[in-house]
Amino acid sequence: MEVVITEGAEEIGEVVADAVARVLVGRPDPTLGLATGSSPLPVYRALIDRYRRGQVSFGAATAFLLDEYVGLPPDHPQSYRRFIQSEFTDHVDLPPDRLHGPDVDRPDLPEACRDYEHRIRSAGGIDLQLLGIGSDGHIGFNEPTSSLASRTRLKTLAPSTRADNARFFGPGDEVPLHVITQGLGAILEAGHLVLFAMGARKAMAVAAAVEGPVAAMCPASVLQLHQHATVVLDAGAAGELRLVDYYRDVYRHKPAWQTI
Ligand code: F6R
Repeated sequence: MEVVITEGAEEIGEVVADAVARVLVGRPDPTLGLATGSSPLPVYRALIDRYRRGQVSFGAATAFLLDEYVGLPPDHPQSYRRFIQSEFTDHVDLPPDRLHGPDVDRPDLPEACRDYEHRIRSAGGIDLQLLGIGSDGHIGFNEPTSSLASRTRLKTLAPSTRADNARFFGPGDEVPLHVITQGLGAILEAGHLVLFAMGARKAMAVAAAVEGPVAAMCPASVLQLHQHATVVLDAGAAGELRLVDYYRDVYRHKPAWQTI
């Protein structure tokens, strides 16, 4: 696993946008896995900016959401499809029919989950998966004690995650209890996992994920099992890591040809 400690949100956006841009130019049919929440916003801003400058195109790309709330009206601004459209895909040339999410309105949700994985496989799998991390160590909505081999399925959000996400919802508008999320086993199948985090609130979860044991109590620790996982942090989120000097040294001495 590579750990990159940056000066802050803007640099996180640029470092991760570089990796996304390489996938976009390097593959004929690039496939991106998109996370929602506040952490990816600098990345989406950087990518929109590069698109406007004519530096990248999403015209040949396909994108898959990592997760989606169950039980929100489809046009609810906090549905993850709406969120990703308004924060990202509406501002670039990704063909709208190539933005996929779990079909949370199907009566048979287990079938919707199987179908979602089938769509991902049919697109050739995900080349690069963007990941935030919850303060309890979740990725996607795989809460602590999720099986490290889990597939896409219905999950119940932890009370702490619902409390964290309440900031996005208006007064009297409840954070849903249930979500469909790609499982940890499914996430591990992506070609490159890029996790980013900002702020001291994430520091304990980041330290457990990067330097703790691989354990279902910290779902993000599953990244340790992936052969190409990159963790991009600001100083706050890196604050509980023991090997900060080593990570900085490795990044400083990276050969020019070796990208993240
Ligand atoms: C969102 C997702 C979650 C978030 C995590 C962090 O699609 O999968 O795992 O990445 O809850 O959220 P923020 O970035 O809002 O702190």
